[in-house]
Amino acid sequence: MLFKKDKGITEEQVKAALSHVDDPDLKKDLITLGMVKDIEISGKRVAFSVVLTTPACPMKDAIKNACINAIHLMVDKEAEVAVNMTAQVTADQKNRVLPQVRNVVAISSGKGGVGKSTIAANLAVALARTGARVGLVDADIYGPSQPIMFGFQDARPMMEKIGERDMLVPFERHGVKLMSVGVLVPADQALVWRGPMASKALQQIIFDTNWGEIDYLLIDLPPGTGDVHLTLVQALPVTGAVVITTPQQVAVADARKGAEMFRSPQIQVPILGVIENMAYFVPDDAPDKQYHIFGQGGGQALADALQSPLLGQIPMREGMAARSDQGSPITLMEDDLLGASFHSLAQSLAQQVAIRNAQKPPTQKVEITTG
Ligand SMILES: Nc1ncnc2c1ncn2[C@@H]1O[C@H](COP(=O)(O)OP(=O)(O)OP(=O)(O)O)[C@@H](O)[C@H]1O
Ligand SMILES: [Mg+2]
Repeated sequence: MLFKKDKGITEEQVKAALSHVDDPDLKKDLITLGMVKDIEISGKRVAFSVVLTTPACPMKDAIKNACINAIHLMVDKEAEVAVNMTAQVTADQKNRVLPQVRNVVAISSGKGGVGKSTIAANLAVALARTGARVGLVDADIYGPSQPIMFGFQDARPMMEKIGERDMLVPFERHGVKLMSVGVLVPADQALVWRGPMASKALQQIIFDTNWGEIDYLLIDLPPGTGDVHLTLVQALPVTGAVVITTPQQVAVADARKGAEMFRSPQIQVPILGVIENMAYFVPDDAPDKQYHIFGQGGGQALADALQSPLLGQIPMREGMAARSDQGSPITLMEDDLLGASFHSLAQSLAQQVAIRNAQKPPTQKVEITTG
């Protein structure tokens, strides 16, 4: 009598099983997307890596569990499955102007004072906490706030020689690499700087800083749509812009003007999403209450108008301004409610960057044509 010999688990079986697991954002299976690497099989033990498009992937655990279930269901219910979840952030272009920077994200709003700088700083720290390599450029020539938020307002940047070039060494705080136009422009001179000088300063901090490998370079922009914005889109292909608004309708109209600049046919920078800041107030002594002191619905209305997702809603907390001024965005992150809000915002943004890179062609630098 012939016994069927147990051949053991094969790589083909593992791949076939994992081809039934989809990346929910990219809507294709892990094998087609080339996300499964280093399959190793020994007896009942199956080990492999899944390379996600961002370490901030909110679906990380769900994808891991789906992989394990697929092997149990379709290959061997007794298999011992070890999944190593890793990430390599996708880039929006091949021939990048800054070859070590994978994605450039503009933090913008047509309106002043809506929290661009506060959100840029905390989003940067939240992204870095997921394991991503993050840089932050403070491009607000007329009111740089990042030096205060990160506590380097009195520091002078160091220089280092890279080949023949003298490069600025970025400041590093809470896992984020930082550079500000504020370090090039004395505060008392900023207001009398004309557009071309502001543009030059921005180009210098972007191109003369030794960033190293960066997954997400966030740009904290000044309000409106001025010279600094045009300089940015001419200097670099910007992966996408996020637009910040507050909940009231008047803010939405202004915020939208800023977004329209990015979306214009001459510029064509995709809008990755909308963030509603100061969405509601949560008092310290009644943390389960929400007061909609600035109204409601602005973020969703702007997202609908721009046909982009609402990435998140950041509440107001007492003493937030005072804590930002103390020179550490990290104090905001340690507030449970704000920490959770910024963590989920970081995940949503990283998710939209991955989707954008999978679905849209690379952004081109804006070329100014004359004549
Ligand atoms: N969610 C929030 N809760 C409480 N205070 C906040 C919140 N977001 C921002 N603030 C405060 O509002 C003020 C304006 O914020 P911020 O400077 O970040 O705005 P901005 O859009 O960068 O302003 P500008 O247009 O001048 O660059 C700051 O004092 C900041 O601490
Ligand atoms: Mg600002």
